[in-house]
Order: sequence, then structure tokens, then C-alpha cells
Amino acid sequence: MKIIVFFFFLVISVISDNAGCISTSKINSNAVTLKDAFKDAFLIGAALNAAQIQEKEPNAAALVPLQFNAVTPENIMKAEIIHPKWDTYNFDLADKIVAYGEKYRMKVNGHTLIWHSQLPSFVKTMNDADSLRQYFTSHINTVAGRYNGKIFSWDVVNEALEEDGSLRKSIFLQKLGEGYVVEAFRLAQKAAPQTELYYNDYNIEQPKKRAGVLALVKKIQEAGVRIDGVGIQGHWRAYNIPLKEIEESIIAFSALGVKVMFTELDLGVLPNPWDADAADVNMKAEYNAKMNPYQQGLPDSMQAKLSDGYEALFKLFLKHKYKISRVTFWGVNDGQSWLNGWPIAGRTNYPLLFDRNFKPKPAYDAVIALKK
Ligand code: G3I
Repeated sequence: MKIIVFFFFLVISVISDNAGCISTSKINSNAVTLKDAFKDAFLIGAALNAAQIQEKEPNAAALVPLQFNAVTPENIMKAEIIHPKWDTYNFDLADKIVAYGEKYRMKVNGHTLIWHSQLPSFVKTMNDADSLRQYFTSHINTVAGRYNGKIFSWDVVNEALEEDGSLRKSIFLQKLGEGYVVEAFRLAQKAAPQTELYYNDYNIEQPKKRAGVLALVKKIQEAGVRIDGVGIQGHWRAYNIPLKEIEESIIAFSALGVKVMFTELDLGVLPNPWDADAADVNMKAEYNAKMNPYQQGLPDSMQAKLSDGYEALFKLFLKHKYKISRVTFWGVNDGQSWLNGWPIAGRTNYPLLFDRNFKPKPAYDAVIALKK
């Protein structure tokens, strides 16, 4: 077996160096990969875009099955794309990520059934509660029902809380009332009995928002409805990671008997126009060159901050490995990251473990070294 692996790596490294893309030359042939290094702890996943799901990007096509054992669709299972019109569903790409998961024996996490953002236009313009409730019910039944037993889990509800922990003033709250989150999980458990069901959000390591999540989970549990886990998105900055608060949330969520996951991990290295962390795509800021300082490459000092940040996070994840079931990066490599376009368009960010040539970065080595 080792011989076959060795020759496999040898072939890959020859191809990749010539093609100037993923070079495993930095990963010597005996090196463990992310998924193997952490297989006794938690799943390691990545968010895939449409081209990567269809293996149209040769670099990602080689790297993703090698390094990861879980995938999340970055956009193609969102309502705007999978349910564009009232009675029209578009399952083409969603079926493809299911097939991709089967082909590489990876766990697929569906993202996401109920979210205030990326809603189809026919929903955004809905005025009456009955129409929205009909949409809400048929969307969950149809989409979660179709992939029951085919995907491992769903982010049933995404980002339903304001920063103060109260329910977000979304169309769902306005039209369906405070019970809509419990209702979403009730419908999903019926439509997808073989699928794990999660609540997913950002900044829920912050005390007020953590309290909001705890109240939501208890409400769902007290209603006798299934919730299997809480996803902490993990959109942080390499130079300012709230480690203490993150640990407090891991412990608090796990104490309610649900799994904890880090579902959209990335560590931005660029200055942020606002002091606070956030991941609301509707928040935007003007371009200004001072906010885009690393166009020519990441200086060693910030590369080191990124490595230290990921090392500290993975040390914490390993400390709580029996509470954490998955760590998913929000993208495969720096070039793909949404953080190149948010909150300021046209920037050059470096938030992930693989660079724009799909080469492992020092942060990758720092994470792998924890398991040596
Ligand atoms: O597909 C269209 C394309 O046809 C069009 O030419 C192009 C230009 O406007 O837009 C493309 O759609 C973009 C889509 O990504 C696919 O690339 C949307 O404009 C863009 O807004 C969308 O951004 C996604 C964002 O969610 C939208 O909400 C990001 O890729 C995705 O990484 C991001 O992910 C969210 C999670 O779902 C939830 N948590 C926060 C996270 C980051 O915002």
C-alpha cells in the first residue's frame, strides 16, 4: 500500500511541478494529509464552488480528495440557486455535489435551507404570510426530502440572530413569527430523518450571540424536535482571534448535548474597515489602497501571524476533540476566498491553508505539525 501511495505522490509531484500548479513537492511523500492527520479527532472539510464540484479546476480536483473528507457547497444549494421560481427547482449542481461526495467517500453538508440572504426574487417580494409559509414548507420538504440519506447533514437555519442575540429581523421573523426556527427543524426532521440537522451562524462565540444560540437550541429541544449540532462559522482575523470566547462557546453548546462544528473557517489578514468581526455580505466598504497592502505577496511577519493563528485554533479544537465533529474551511485556496471581495471588492487576501497555486502554506505545516 505504502509503495502505491509513494508512486501516486511521485506522479502528482511530477505533473504538478511541470504544470506550475499544486506542488506536493512541499508535501513529502510520507506526509499525512489534513484528513488523515485529524481522522481520530474530527472531519476536515472545504467549501466548494460550482467549478470545483464539477472538477473543472484540475488543481482543486487533485487536492480536494487528497486533503479533505467533507465538503459544503459554497453557493449552489442556496434557495436563490436551487429554487429560482415558485414551482421550479434546479437540482443539477446539487445532484453533482452528492455524486462527488459518493465518488470520494466524503460527507456532504447541505448549505442552507432557511437563510435571509440569497433568497429567490419571488420570495423577497412576498407580502403575505400564507405565501411565505407555503414557500417555507415546500422548500424544506422538497429539498431536504430529495437528499434524505444522500447527504450527511443540513445547515437547516443560517444566521437567524442579531449581534445582541435576539432573532434577526428577517422576512421569516416578520411573516412567520418567532416559532419559525423550531418549525424549520420540525419540517426538516420529518423530510430528512436520516440527515443530521444543524443551526449555523457567525460571531456566536461572542457572549450575547452565544446566549441567543443557547436559547434557540433549548427552544427546539423543549419542543421535542431534533437538532444535532451547532455550526460556528469562524470568519476571524489572523491577528485577532477570540480564543477564550471560542472555548467558552464550545463548552456551552456541547453541554446541551449537541455536536459543535467550525463550518466556514478562514482567517483574514487584511485591515478591516470596521473593528468588529462580521460575515454579513450586505456590509460593504469603499476600495482604498491602504486597505489592500499585500497585493505583491504576504510578508513573513503576517504569514507567521496566520500560522500562529491556525496553530492556536487547532490546539483548541484538539483539546475539545470529543465535542467537535468537523472543521470546514470556507474555500480550498486563497484565490477562491470570498474575503478577496468582502467587505471591499478587489483585494488580495490570504485566509486559507493553500495559496493561489494550491501550494500548502506555512500555516498548513503548522497545523499538520500538531499531529506529528
Ligand atoms: O453566480 C453569479 C454570477 O452569475 C454573476 O456573474 C456574479 C457577478 O455578480 O455573481 C455570482 O453570484 C455570486 C455568488 O457568490 C456566486 O459566486 C454573488 O454575486 C455573490 O454575492 C455570492 O457570494 C457568496 C455569499 O455567501 C453570498 O451571500 C460567497 O461566494 C459565499 O462565500 C458567501 O458565503 C457565506 C455563507 O453562505 C454564510 N456565511 C457567510 C459566508 C460569507 O459571506
